[in-house]
Amino acid sequence: MTQAHLSSRITNITGGGSDGWDVFHRARAMIARGLPVTELTIGEHDIRTDPAILDAMHAAARAGHTGYAEVPGTRALRRAVAARVARQTGVPTTEANVLVTPGAQAALFAAHIATCDPGDTALYLDPYYATYPGTIRGAGAVPCPVPTRAADNFQPRAADLAPFAEGARSLLINTPNNPTGTVYDRPSLDGIAGICREHDLWLISDEVYDSQVWQGDHLSPRALPGMAERTLVMGSMSKSHAMTGSRCGWIIGPEAAITHLINLSTHTTYGVPGFIQDASVFAFDQGAALEAAIAAPFRRRRDLALQILGRQQIVRAIPPQGAMYIMLDIRATGMSGEDFAMALLDEHHIAVMPGESFGQAAAGHLRVAMTVDDDRFAAALETLCAFAAARS
Ligand SMILES: Cc1ncc(COP(=O)(O)O)c(C=O)c1O
Repeated sequence: MTQAHLSSRITNITGGGSDGWDVFHRARAMIARGLPVTELTIGEHDIRTDPAILDAMHAAARAGHTGYAEVPGTRALRRAVAARVARQTGVPTTEANVLVTPGAQAALFAAHIATCDPGDTALYLDPYYATYPGTIRGAGAVPCPVPTRAADNFQPRAADLAPFAEGARSLLINTPNNPTGTVYDRPSLDGIAGICREHDLWLISDEVYDSQVWQGDHLSPRALPGMAERTLVMGSMSKSHAMTGSRCGWIIGPEAAITHLINLSTHTTYGVPGFIQDASVFAFDQGAALEAAIAAPFRRRRDLALQILGRQQIVRAIPPQGAMYIMLDIRATGMSGEDFAMALLDEHHIAVMPGESFGQAAAGHLRVAMTVDDDRFAAALETLCAFAAARS
């Protein structure tokens, strides 16, 4: 039987070739065979959602909030998101600026559908969160990576961006950054904002790690002059409240764009379950202390990592300023990130992500997720450093 035609839009989502997750898949296969593997691969907390949030979810469901919820998001959640962002950024924001989505991933897709016509060029900074190019392709646009440099600790430079901007439609950035742990500073963001204004680009700003900042301050580019009308911000309960499985995120943007994005939701997701949104409002009501408590293990492990790495000279850390990852430069070993990560997995049963999985700008690097308990994390890093020393 011949297969009926599938659209190139869907068959090309991954761009062909490896999905960059070979080490991860191999680690999972080893675990399935019963081998003990320390997994420092995916960006997920080693705690589960707070039981009090689950109680709120259950109570909301039992109270009957199990039917279709309002497609743009409940009034209470849109208001809570707007209040949080207005407080954090000083930019006047109301519920009309907020659309609730099933996670930031759905928001990223919607943002590209909203800003790019088929065939338009959508820029994104390399290294990048692994789904970015596929998300752009899925939206029918053409992904165009713009390299940042290890020598700059992956802070973007306007001069590197400028040659790509002419004729592009959008630029996707992520701060605090996955995979690098870099928090974009004011000069970097001023440079990016200048390019967006000059070339009439939409800025799509993924800020899902805004509650995980270890050094410096998180600055939302939406707060920069002339940017509120051309910026779409992605946020989510996933990382700030350890609610990855609840699939609750949002887009913040100009009211006119949000009105169109609501139409998109009506014709795609039809919103987010009401009991999940009620639980999210409850989570926000717990205030910043809950977010700080959820971020605390990563801050602690980041300090631990710096202590361990400070005792040797082979592996260099990109200064980890935010998010739940630490990016390591292993070029002194002469190995690629992929070869290093595979050999570390095979010989020591430690799984880390090769930098190459996140773009060519991160070649010769590793992304280490700080997502196992402190003792196992420290032991894994010690082994990684000893392995690097033996190979260099
Ligand atoms: C940079 C970045 N953006 C978006 C997401 C997706 O988040 P969500 O769970 O809200 O879809 C992730 C998840 O790892 C991420 O690291």
